Amino acid sequence: MTSFVRNQWYVAAYGSEIGHELFGRTVCGEPILFWRTEAGEVTAMAEHCVHRRFPLSRSPSRLDGDRVVCGYHGFTYGPDGVCVSVPGQRRVPRTARLASYPVREQDAFVWVWIGERDRAEGTPIPRAPWLDSPEYTTVRGMEPLAARYGLLVDNLLDLSHETYLHGGYIGTPEVAETPITTEADETSGIVRVSRHMDDAACPPFYARSTGIEGRITRWQDIEYHAPCLYLLHSRIAPVGAPEPRADGTDPGAFHVEVVYAITPETEHSTHDFWAVARDFALDDQQVSTFLADNNRTVVLQDVVALDQLEQVVASEPPGTQELSINIDTGGLAARRILARLATEGAGSAEGAGAAGTAVTR
Ligand code: FES
Ligand SMILES: [Fe+2]
Repeated sequence: MTSFVRNQWYVAAYGSEIGHELFGRTVCGEPILFWRTEAGEVTAMAEHCVHRRFPLSRSPSRLDGDRVVCGYHGFTYGPDGVCVSVPGQRRVPRTARLASYPVREQDAFVWVWIGERDRAEGTPIPRAPWLDSPEYTTVRGMEPLAARYGLLVDNLLDLSHETYLHGGYIGTPEVAETPITTEADETSGIVRVSRHMDDAACPPFYARSTGIEGRITRWQDIEYHAPCLYLLHSRIAPVGAPEPRADGTDPGAFHVEVVYAITPETEHSTHDFWAVARDFALDDQQVSTFLADNNRTVVLQDVVALDQLEQVVASEPPGTQELSINIDTGGLAARRILARLATEGAGSAEGAGAAGTAVTR
């Protein structure tokens, strides 16, 4: 089983999900309370009240200005998680504080750090700049997945499954038929998988959004930043259109940036954030609606399959033999990197857990 990689940034939410109200979401097994202060800053702290563990995201817990009031007996906390008042006595116990988490907003996401605090600052958050760029129009969503996050990583790094699981949407025969090239940068924890199809059928997902009627050149360039961020740079052009220019511009093609944030919720469930950003038909609401509906359908096809797969994997003894082939090269590289990252953080995870207990109990 893949254990959590703690010392990395994870997407907890879209920025638009968090307002001046209490919002609970579990990340890597840790229930976290998010809210925006009156000044607009996102805060993140442990979700369970230190007193009798009432979930602070649940009614009748509430915000009173920039303070969280527990709905059970009224323990009240500031934006740093420190308890500022308790009922029936003046003295607030020194240990009455909720663990707080480093949190950042970047590229339309709220990122949270659950590992060792002093390592957060020095660890860069990977970028997905298309999501709030005026040069792109984005549709997006999040689906709960009742499967361990490693199964989604496998799924996204091997797009040959599009031909079978997503036929009639994004899959055509050429995807599974075309070999991939894989590159793993172990130091930076990035896996790249590329598949360039020179002459392929145009699946409905791209035919209806771009208006291309004939066959296409279709490039899929994956960049997976372990553990959380997955980027699929998708380039679609009519066959015979010129290739990208030396300066990087590419006026003959349509570009779609497919972004997934893969955030473990528990050992057996995952937050599956997905976004589709395009550089064409920017103001066309019909194209937005079509891509949003179509992509959600595709994501749900994966969710159904992976939820079933989780049941199988969970019922089999660890280490049950699988059979891997060339298409799995990217997924296997990702597993190696994730295993290394999880081991690197393992000793410190225990330490952090113990410290967390001391603080919150
Ligand atoms: S459980 Fe929160 S105040 Fe008692
Ligand atoms: Fe899929």
